[in-house]
Amino acid sequence: MSNLPITLIGCGAQAKYAIEIFARTGRLVSRVLDPLGYRVGEQLGDVSIEPFNLSLLIQNKRCTKINSSVLICLSDNKIKRDIFRKIDNKINIINAIHPKSSIASTSELKKGLIINAGAVIQPYAKIGNGCMIHAGVVVEHDSVINDFANLAPGVTLAGGVVVGEGVTVNSGAIVVPNVEIGKYAIIGAGSLVLHDIPAGVLAYGSPAKIVKRLDE
Ligand SMILES: CC(C)(COP(=O)(O)OP(=O)(O)OC[C@H]1O[C@@H](n2cnc3c(N)ncnc32)[C@H](O)[C@@H]1OP(=O)(O)O)[C@@H](O)C(=O)NCCC(=O)NCCS
Repeated sequence: MSNLPITLIGCGAQAKYAIEIFARTGRLVSRVLDPLGYRVGEQLGDVSIEPFNLSLLIQNKRCTKINSSVLICLSDNKIKRDIFRKIDNKINIINAIHPKSSIASTSELKKGLIINAGAVIQPYAKIGNGCMIHAGVVVEHDSVINDFANLAPGVTLAGGVVVGEGVTVNSGAIVVPNVEIGKYAIIGAGSLVLHDIPAGVLAYGSPAKIVKRLDE
């Protein structure tokens, strides 16, 4: 594993998870940048939060592909997507994978992922770029999680589920086999998802029903 200094983009909960995961794997976070600008100058652990400047980040010698590694830690899936697309192929984007997660050897992981303690990724599952897989999530065999999806603590996806780009599945929801959740949909906590959910809606309940369309 590379030992380059790590820069985090974002300073909320996902950054806290990433710092904890990297510490457990013997790696230190040297910079934390705040794209939203609210917490510049505050401390996150031992690191002082700095402003985020995309062009400086890309030009900065400390952050070239050769000299630094970056992870985007933002709970807004769309802002994460936009920053990811701007820095991809210019900066080395890495994963934070908790040593107490279980990742099947036949699964496929892209980059910019945070996978927390107790998450289980089963055989032939695929996890796209920039996904957040929280503590205790189970992604069963052959499921496909597209880019920038966020699976909250304790979510269970049965086999062959397809989660669209930028989807959020909130805490403890269960999705039955082969269901497809459309892009940027949000599934409420504790839901039981029995049928496909279209893109861009909020759905919750047991069984989950569409509650409203979400604004673009
Ligand atoms: C997606 C979510 C935020 C939607 O909430 P919302 O649209 O703001 O809904 P509100 O809080 O305004 O509640 C509106 C109504 O829907 C109900 N409701 C909201 N979420 C519900 C859910 N997941 N299941 C069942 N009913 C729900 C509320 O009880 C409320 O009913 P009432 O008007 O009779 O009191 C919410 O369902 C959710 O999942 N919250 C947890 C987020 C989470 O897990 N975060 C973890 C991050 S690590």
